[in-house]
Amino acid sequence: MSLRKAEFHSGLRPPLAPPGVFFFLLILLFLSTTATEAGCSFPAIFNFGDSNSETGGFWAAFPAQRAPFGMTYFKKPAGRASDGRAVIDFLAQALGLPFLSPYLQSIGSNFSHGANFATAASTVLLPNTSVFVTGISPFSLAIQFNQMNELRVRVFEMSPQDNLPSKDIFAKALYTFDIGQNDFTSNLATIGIEGDKQFLPQVASQIAWTIKELYNNGGRTFMVFNLAPIGCFPAFLTLLPHNESDLDEYGCMISYNNAVVDYNKLLKETLQQTRSELQNASVIYLDTHSVKLELFQHPKNHGFIYGTKACCGSGGGPYNYNPQVFCGNTKIINGTNVTSSACSDPQNYVSWDGIHATEAANEIIARAILNGSYFDPPFPISHLCNLKPIG
Ligand SMILES: *[C@@H]1O[C@H](CO)[C@@H](O)[C@H](O)[C@H]1NC(C)=O
Ligand SMILES: *[C@@H]1O[C@H](CO)[C@@H](O)[C@H](O)[C@H]1NC(C)=O
Ligand SMILES: *[C@@H]1O[C@H](CO)[C@@H](O)[C@H](O)[C@H]1NC(C)=O
Ligand SMILES: *[C@@H]1O[C@H](CO)[C@@H](O)[C@H](O)[C@H]1NC(C)=O
Ligand SMILES: *[C@@H]1O[C@H](CO)[C@@H](O)[C@H](O)[C@H]1NC(C)=O
Ligand SMILES: *[C@@H]1O[C@H](CO)[C@@H](O)[C@H](O)[C@H]1NC(C)=O
Ligand SMILES: *[C@@H]1O[C@H](CO)[C@@H](O)[C@H](O)[C@H]1NC(C)=O
Repeated sequence: MSLRKAEFHSGLRPPLAPPGVFFFLLILLFLSTTATEAGCSFPAIFNFGDSNSETGGFWAAFPAQRAPFGMTYFKKPAGRASDGRAVIDFLAQALGLPFLSPYLQSIGSNFSHGANFATAASTVLLPNTSVFVTGISPFSLAIQFNQMNELRVRVFEMSPQDNLPSKDIFAKALYTFDIGQNDFTSNLATIGIEGDKQFLPQVASQIAWTIKELYNNGGRTFMVFNLAPIGCFPAFLTLLPHNESDLDEYGCMISYNNAVVDYNKLLKETLQQTRSELQNASVIYLDTHSVKLELFQHPKNHGFIYGTKACCGSGGGPYNYNPQVFCGNTKIINGTNVTSSACSDPQNYVSWDGIHATEAANEIIARAILNGSYFDPPFPISHLCNLKPIG
């Protein structure tokens, strides 16, 4: 502080500003103070989701995550389905909040600025299978919502604790949803797109129902991520039936990507309806699909080398994905020791493990969100909120 003052005094005096510039600066000052006063300062985030936004919930409940997950940023497995931070981590950073503790993590958690209910392989609808059979998480959206209620009820019945939020936080918090991808993909190979279409309206309406329940409990700001272009994911390019004629110029599957676009349209319409029913609520549809599609289609424009090839996998080829040996695993197949390990340059890949994005891609997605051009209805987050730099 004193050093900067000394520098200023020893330097040249700035010329006096003409009155017009001074007036303009006053207006700017006025605008920025009113914007931050009236605008957003979210003291907490409550997140509902799957592996795309989890920060360790699944791995707190089930055996620990393996290396090389977390290698880039945390230098050890940190519960993110990436080599580093997830989009939700960057959002928390931008809002000036600490990383979200997983609700299921009983040691070292701090929920004073929110909680993360997301777990890997979670679905919106109640699963009809077990984690021991197909790997689908038992913590579907309805369970995550119950956990949110449990947290809220506890906060109201207990005296203030320094690892719990204050009672007034539920009305001021940002509620985020990044879930539905596993409903869409988990049976897709067997039931096909037409099979999916039978229950996708239920998926969208279950998300809407959850928003209404949270609203009844005082929540006011809801942000829903739409579904990613899974037809460009190395895993689904390997796993889902298709032929050459279903590939577009970017190497993505046209039919599955079109089905995602249809679901996103349905989700957007469902949220428009929800918005009209909830007075004073902000129900925001977030088009991260466009950002991700752009990364897969033009990886080189964004500093990547590979779009539809996984960093962590095995087998090489265009996708480097082996469905039998997921990232971090080793298996003897036909007498050969097959290990899915990470590339040495994840910053050059959009896809980390065939399904999830690298930290480098997640940061670009987060920047795009914070840029504010992907919200419906428009939400000038960078003007309204006092955002902190990310990275
Ligand atoms: C599970 O089965 C029930 C009853 O058949 C059905 O309503 C529900 O949609 C199914 N859920 C999933 C995720 O398939
Ligand atoms: C939880 O985080 C808050 C805010 O960062 C801090 O004030 C508090 O001391 C923390 N509590 C514990 C138990 O670490
Ligand atoms: C590719 O798949 C589509 C849709 O399943 C089918 O209509 C078409 O005949 C197939 N083309 C070839 C060359 O097999
Ligand atoms: C909406 O906000 C206004 C102004 O704060 C308040 O008077 C009104 O009661 C609120 N309506 C509902 C349904 O919460
Ligand atoms: C094992 O090798 C046999 C014979 O080459 C082949 O038919 C089979 O697909 C292989 N199995 C796996 C899992 O790669
Ligand atoms: C297979 O390879 C992994 C990684 O290189 C190694 O840790 C493991 O011991 C090997 N297993 C066998 C049976 O060779
Ligand atoms: C958002 O991105 C667009 C296009 O890249 C850019 O022109 C604009 O300045 C950005 N806006 C903000 C608020 O960062």
